[in-house]
Amino acid sequence: MTILIVYGTTEGQTRKIARYMKDILQDAGHKVTIADATEEPPAPGDYDAILIGGSIHIHKYQSAVTHYIAKHVAVLNKMPGAFFSVCLAVASGIDEEHREADKITNDFLAQTGWKPLLTAQVAGALKYTQYDYLKRLIMKMIAKREGRATDTSQDYEYTNWDAVKKFALEFADKASVELTSPSR
Ligand SMILES: Cc1cc2nc3c(=O)[nH]c(=O)nc-3n(C[C@H](O)[C@H](O)[C@H](O)COP(=O)(O)O)c2cc1C
Repeated sequence: MTILIVYGTTEGQTRKIARYMKDILQDAGHKVTIADATEEPPAPGDYDAILIGGSIHIHKYQSAVTHYIAKHVAVLNKMPGAFFSVCLAVASGIDEEHREADKITNDFLAQTGWKPLLTAQVAGALKYTQYDYLKRLIMKMIAKREGRATDTSQDYEYTNWDAVKKFALEFADKASVELTSPSR
């Protein structure tokens, strides 16, 4: 199967997750192309399946991801696709935070009109060393409130790589089934 992965990232964690998915899917025998949403990604129509991901910053995904989906929504709704959302809320032990992340994802997909086969919430990273002074201060305050690490001299990765692998392989399985007996 040919699979296109398009991602949006601000501090790099979603790119790292997208690259990991690429490796997993290639190892499973698929031909994978990966593209940054800001760098003229290829159109989806030339591929069998598509994975699109973005990270949440102040309740929003990267505008390049929104634009890509809006531009191609008609084609996207005719092919097997999945959306993965990267954020910190899902790394929290607070249920309300998880519900908030789900709501952001569901509202976003409803607004774009895209109906992917699968969606996933993926825990991202706290990259204190990459933030400017103000961002570092804000992120430290939020981290403290939510019981996350507050030593700003280092970065913290919360991504569960096994869960990412499971999601990528589950998507490939579902996409193969969909291609052989389409439900839409
Ligand atoms: C300025 C800023 C705002 C953020 N806002 C949110 C948010 O509203 N909800 C959330 O769950 N995570 C939020 N995050 C956490 C990011 O989603 C997380 O760091 C993610 O790993 C970023 O992925 P990226 O490196 O691909 O951009 C925020 C991070 C930053 C730096």
